[in-house]
Amino acid sequence: MIYFLAEDEYHYSSESITALREEYHLKEIVMFPDLDKIRSSVESGKAIGFISPAMPETINPMFKSTNFFEVIELKNRCGLLTTGQERVGISETVALKEKLGIQIHKPTLTLKDYGGAEDLIEEAKKVWIKERYGFTIKGFMLAGIPGTGKSHFAKCMAGETNRFLVELNLSQIMELPDTIYRIGLIFEYFINNPGRYIIWIDEIEKMLVGEKSIQVLGTLLTKINDLNSVGNGQKEASSLFVIATANNITDIAMRFPEFTRYGRFDLLIFMLPPTEENASNIFNLYINKAMEKFKEEKFVKMFKFALAGELEESGSVAHSIQENIISSVDKEIRSSFISMSETEILSDPLFIQIRDRIIHDSIFTFNVELFVQKASVAYGNYTTANRFIYTPAEIEFIVEDVFFTHFFRPTTDFSGNEYNARLIEKYQPLQVTMKSALQKMQGAAINFKKL
Ligand SMILES: Nc1ncnc2c1ncn2[C@@H]1O[C@H](COP(=O)(O)OP(=O)(O)OP(=O)(O)O)[C@@H](O)[C@H]1O
Ligand SMILES: [Mg+2]
Repeated sequence: MIYFLAEDEYHYSSESITALREEYHLKEIVMFPDLDKIRSSVESGKAIGFISPAMPETINPMFKSTNFFEVIELKNRCGLLTTGQERVGISETVALKEKLGIQIHKPTLTLKDYGGAEDLIEEAKKVWIKERYGFTIKGFMLAGIPGTGKSHFAKCMAGETNRFLVELNLSQIMELPDTIYRIGLIFEYFINNPGRYIIWIDEIEKMLVGEKSIQVLGTLLTKINDLNSVGNGQKEASSLFVIATANNITDIAMRFPEFTRYGRFDLLIFMLPPTEENASNIFNLYINKAMEKFKEEKFVKMFKFALAGELEESGSVAHSIQENIISSVDKEIRSSFISMSETEILSDPLFIQIRDRIIHDSIFTFNVELFVQKASVAYGNYTTANRFIYTPAEIEFIVEDVFFTHFFRPTTDFSGNEYNARLIEKYQPLQVTMKSALQKMQGAAINFKKL
């Protein structure tokens, strides 16, 4: 029995049905069959086909395990979109997300936004070199402590190597009865749109649920690798590289040990917190970013508050900036500034002149070296493999706090021992609060390279 799997409404038009009947020598094609219709068709003994947008097992689970039907997939007329979706102007982006669980980004982040981690970057470079010399590359699996920059790495790597970042949410299509069909559609997309991609499967352990998931993921990874060479019907060679990330490696190791076998990925990496030196680099990276952001977005708000005399906390850096701003702007101009929009102010030459002078003069007195040293002493017993006690994500968060304090809260000895000690106590590192869980995680990653 032939069963046409067809999503596009075009295939249900009388024109298409007639053509199908002739091509497959069928007496009749029954649309949207249910079990009764299938039964009576079989009993009639005629050559009858069926057409439906859903797989036969959605009618009855028994069709899944038998070869009762020969399922023939009919492609949509407009690629990924059905005729109707194309007509009402659904964008391909929306269709990709809703039907296939994929989101395509073009990241602007590059490795300049990735602090420290020379070893990891070195490993990544080796892989690209391998590709350049015609070797097949597969991808990385990144496991490790939360906040060590696994997801961030996928984004920075995509920007750095000028690839599209394809975020794949397999959980979404894994829940549907026609998972395999949808995976086929994902590959059709790559075949029709040859290019350079990073396929990003974030938090892969969340997709490894249920019996079929390991098989689905295995198929997917193999297919991705196969696509890296011309053939398989695509017009040009694509370069698809997988970055999978995982938090709970323990779970994967217990339930699906074959998943991390050698050969599945080019490299299995377990991300540790940064070394002290790299931690300082990450601090400086975020301090510079905070300064930049302050200049581009935040200073203009402060400027408006200052002109209205609202930065009142006396003794704070903000307060002295207020005095500075007020004395730099004549009274008449002051009111015109207050009525201007932020965008207008941002391009005003007087504003730019005042802003650049103030930012230049307001020395950011946070002492990274002192903080790193004090934190290492305070939590010395808790660190993993002699790494720094805070993860990059925590460092980013602390910088935000310090930066805010610097401008908006009065503080007498900002770079002194007392302030730093308070800061360290305020932010209990994850490596302290989750010590045993993190150790367990690391223990499960035996065949992972610790970087
Ligand atoms: N090496 C790094 N350099 C600069 N920033 C970093 C780095 N690592 C992480 N970050 C910052 O920390 C944030 C959190 O990192 P990310 O989301 O990549 O962590 P993760 O390892 O994926 O954590 P989780 O396991 O919780 O998903 C990022 O958005 C980024 O801003
Ligand atoms: Mg993540």
